[in-house]
Amino acid sequence: MSETAIATRGLQKRFGPTLAVADLSLSVRAGEAFGFLGPNGAGKTTSIKMLLALVEPSGGTGTVLGAPLGDRAVRARIGFLPEHFRFHEYLTARELLRFHGRLYGLRGLPLDARIEDLLVRVDMLDAADRPLRGYSKGMLQRTGLAQALINDPALVFLDEPTSGLDPLGRLLVRDIVSELRARGTTVFVNSHLLGEVEATCDRVAFVKQGRVIHELALAGAPAGLELEMRVRPVDVEVVEGLGRFGTSVTVVGDNCVRMRVSGEHVIPDIARWLVERGVSVFALQGRRKSLEEWFVEVMGTDQRPG
Ligand SMILES: Nc1ncnc2c1ncn2[C@@H]1O[C@H](COP(=O)(O)OP(=O)(O)O)[C@@H](O)[C@H]1O
Ligand SMILES: [Mg+2]
Repeated sequence: MSETAIATRGLQKRFGPTLAVADLSLSVRAGEAFGFLGPNGAGKTTSIKMLLALVEPSGGTGTVLGAPLGDRAVRARIGFLPEHFRFHEYLTARELLRFHGRLYGLRGLPLDARIEDLLVRVDMLDAADRPLRGYSKGMLQRTGLAQALINDPALVFLDEPTSGLDPLGRLLVRDIVSELRARGTTVFVNSHLLGEVEATCDRVAFVKQGRVIHELALAGAPAGLELEMRVRPVDVEVVEGLGRFGTSVTVVGDNCVRMRVSGEHVIPDIARWLVERGVSVFALQGRRKSLEEWFVEVMGTDQRPG
């Protein structure tokens, strides 16, 4: 799992006067589900397109699946769900999948079987022989998702896969991402919707104006814990004394203090210390920051996710 799926250094893209991606330096491990988060216009789509060699970088370098950007053999192992796809509306879902499968060099029974599996998986079997022009946004999105997986990719890029989906559709995407991850497929998800990303991704990067400004591991052991306590009194001695158990001790209300500690094991020590000093303890609990809280903290309140 330590193999690198994507590595970039200083990737940059200018569109005339617009600097869409300023300096993208990123590393995604093979087999991980990676969330690429940022407000609209942050450069997420442009970044994916550079990784896919659909947009030529103005600067910087990168490798995808071990080869330089644009390598043809590697492209055959990549899947892509574009953000604003425009499929031929006269095709049926089955025809569209056959067309894309053939572009990947798939033929005959293996392709038929693959199409059938995917139609079932995205819940499109019933409508599979109707033309796309009669589909809802959600049906198109699910068909697009099947298209992105037709070649059983080693790496799949999903650009805003849940936009336009109802809650059930979003759940489906979430489940599919989890299945892909369980099978060792690397998943790169662009999103400004944080819920699904929080539920499925191992790691996220926050991008702002084309720069990664923060990375965060979601799966596995989190780095520390935020602790909130309601105690009385909250005086200078208490605040200073708490400092020995952790960092960022902050008084947030009359009797409320928050701080960061290395883990849950510190909580009993803090409780004992408070009680021994004669401080009344009303509440003492760890709280994990939600991805949304992280987003707002990292991006600033002017950039709340949409
Ligand atoms: N083909 C293009 N021509 C000119 N400007 C573009 C083009 N594509 C994207 N941009 C600009 O680059 C910036 C980043 O866009 P984009 O990568 O689509 O962001 P995101 O996907 O994060 O919303 C935006 O300011 C956008 O208007
Ligand atoms: Mg985009």
